[in-house]
Amino acid sequence: MKVVARAHPNIALVKYWGKRDEVLNLPAAGSFSLTLGPISTTTAVEFDERLTADEVGLDGEDVSERRAGARISNFLDLVRTRCGEKRFARVITSNDFPTAAGLASSASGFAALALAATTAAGQELSREELSRLARQGSGSAARSLFGGFAEMKMGERDDGEDAHGVGFASEAHWDLRTLIAITAIGEKKISSTVGMRQTQKTSPLFQPWIDTVADDIEAAKTAVRARDVQALTEVAERSCLRMHATALGADPGILYWNPVTVAVIHALRAAREESGLLAFFTIDAGPHVKVFTPAEQAPRVAALLRGVPGVGDVIETQPGPAAHLL
Ligand code: PMV
Repeated sequence: MKVVARAHPNIALVKYWGKRDEVLNLPAAGSFSLTLGPISTTTAVEFDERLTADEVGLDGEDVSERRAGARISNFLDLVRTRCGEKRFARVITSNDFPTAAGLASSASGFAALALAATTAAGQELSREELSRLARQGSGSAARSLFGGFAEMKMGERDDGEDAHGVGFASEAHWDLRTLIAITAIGEKKISSTVGMRQTQKTSPLFQPWIDTVADDIEAAKTAVRARDVQALTEVAERSCLRMHATALGADPGILYWNPVTVAVIHALRAAREESGLLAFFTIDAGPHVKVFTPAEQAPRVAALLRGVPGVGDVIETQPGPAAHLL
């Protein structure tokens, strides 16, 4: 049986940066995110007894022998163990957003793969079970099983059973738009796994950062419940800046930003002060800037971002749905 699933990327409003267990991929703190539509990853999975190894196609290329293919095949091993599946699989996956967007394609990718592969193996898992599984592919993927606003629970158990996402408010709750300002092309970055490891090992700011996260998640939930842009601005920007501060404090320090990243922050804050614009930013493990704004202000924010010298494409998104079968 061939099964096709679709999942959407998500962007953290309260950041995840640090692990309490690298093997099970357990986060050192929780996080809180917004799932984005319409951009998505679509993944087809078919187990086939004639195969002698997994076959993986990514964006039209055979990557079975490459790192991306190995990562997917390792994840399929978890699915095989979980579902008692012995056969190898044929996987065809594609993103409908530019890979240069610096978007967490691993989030939508592992969420779609978890859903498609377990269904193809004949199992119907709950959202929490799927989220727990997706977490082992990529921490942020655990949040893309849910539409709209989602919380990742750090959990306390050593086996990670309580470390999974939970839905907080659906995509219909609030039409908060996300605009992604592309500030570089094909820049080589430090992966989130390597960046987190280096931060955790060497930054004296790491534990103080972790100590702030739980309160920020509560503040973000209160702001989202009330659709309060001002309150969400405060919590999202401080979470982002503190995450980057702890990485800057590593040895050697990790700096994901470029001059255009900084120019976008200044332009946004100036527009907020001068004209009462309602918009705020976050930045992940790369130089691009994601800007959140209520739907009615999105055209103004898009124009502002396009006017910052050095900004390339601006990708406009809206709250997206949970991962689903096609
Ligand atoms: O899920 P990972 O391993 O790609 O890590 C994601 C890390 C950030 O994007 C920087 C923050 C987050 O919470 O998504």
